[in-house]
Amino acid sequence: MRAPASNASNASAGALGKCTMATFIVLLGPPGAGKGTQAKRISGILGLPHVSTGDLFRENLADHTALGVEAGEYINKGQLVPDSLTIAMVEERLTRSDCAPGALLDGFPRTLAQAEAFDEMLEKSFNSKVFCVPCIEVDPDLLVERLSDRLVCRNGHVFHLRFSPPKKAGVCDLCGEPLYQREDDKAETVTKRIEVYNVQTAPLIQYYEDRRLLRKINGDQDIEAVTQDILSVLNEANAVNLTGTKIAQKGNGIE
Ligand code: AP5
Ligand code: MG
Repeated sequence: MRAPASNASNASAGALGKCTMATFIVLLGPPGAGKGTQAKRISGILGLPHVSTGDLFRENLADHTALGVEAGEYINKGQLVPDSLTIAMVEERLTRSDCAPGALLDGFPRTLAQAEAFDEMLEKSFNSKVFCVPCIEVDPDLLVERLSDRLVCRNGHVFHLRFSPPKKAGVCDLCGEPLYQREDDKAETVTKRIEVYNVQTAPLIQYYEDRRLLRKINGDQDIEAVTQDILSVLNEANAVNLTGTKIAQKGNGIE
């Protein structure tokens, strides 16, 4: 299977022929593992859209949509949003044209029911399957530290007070918006989210191991080293970019 084209590279996609399948990569890992941080970097390199269910829910929350209001009741308590709402939201997102070549999923699937629904969605709508599941593993003690000092802006850019500080305190380097703490990053909610992960999401590790798709990634390294390890497993999974060249391991221009 080939990794897909970015929209900007459709001419190259054509050159690869019609057999190119849409490529769906699932980033798995507990809250604070670095899924969002890595998804932004990897999606830029691969030219695949970054589909984060957490970000989609937060956008709906900010816009006060009915979905956002309902989801917010679960998110702020550290619980999962019900499968039916989540699956419908992802299904709608994947119908948009930018997902024609595939997508990098961050935070979805998160339950066995979601994983099965996702497999069906890919089969039915894309005649495709999950391509690879890098699972970012981090010492549980570090997760709380990562989340309690995380800062985000309203456009979903992520910083950390110590590990990845913004150049100017309180201001997003990328869009200039103010930085703030996510409501669900308060200590008691973080603990709940980690518990929910262990009970409801961790079974997906076995689900994807059974399908030989899971690749464990050491998330206790600096951000660039984690990116390189993810690129390595994608390369091993034969994720080549649109031009047919292997994903660059070095000098990929990501800061
Ligand atoms: P979501 O937004 O997906 O939250 P999460 O899974 O709890 O994950 P986080 O975003 O907290 O962590 P991350 O792994 O993305 O880490 P990050 O890169 O930011 O979901 C929020 C809520 O929405 C859920 O609780 C649920 O209610 C609902 N929801 C979402 N999807 C759902 C679904 N499918 N079904 C049902 N409900 C759903 O990094 C964390 C921090 O660490 C940052 O400050 C970063 O700068 C820093 N950092 C990252 N990597 C490193 C590193 N290598 N070294 C040092 N610091 C690092
Ligand atoms: Mg995230």
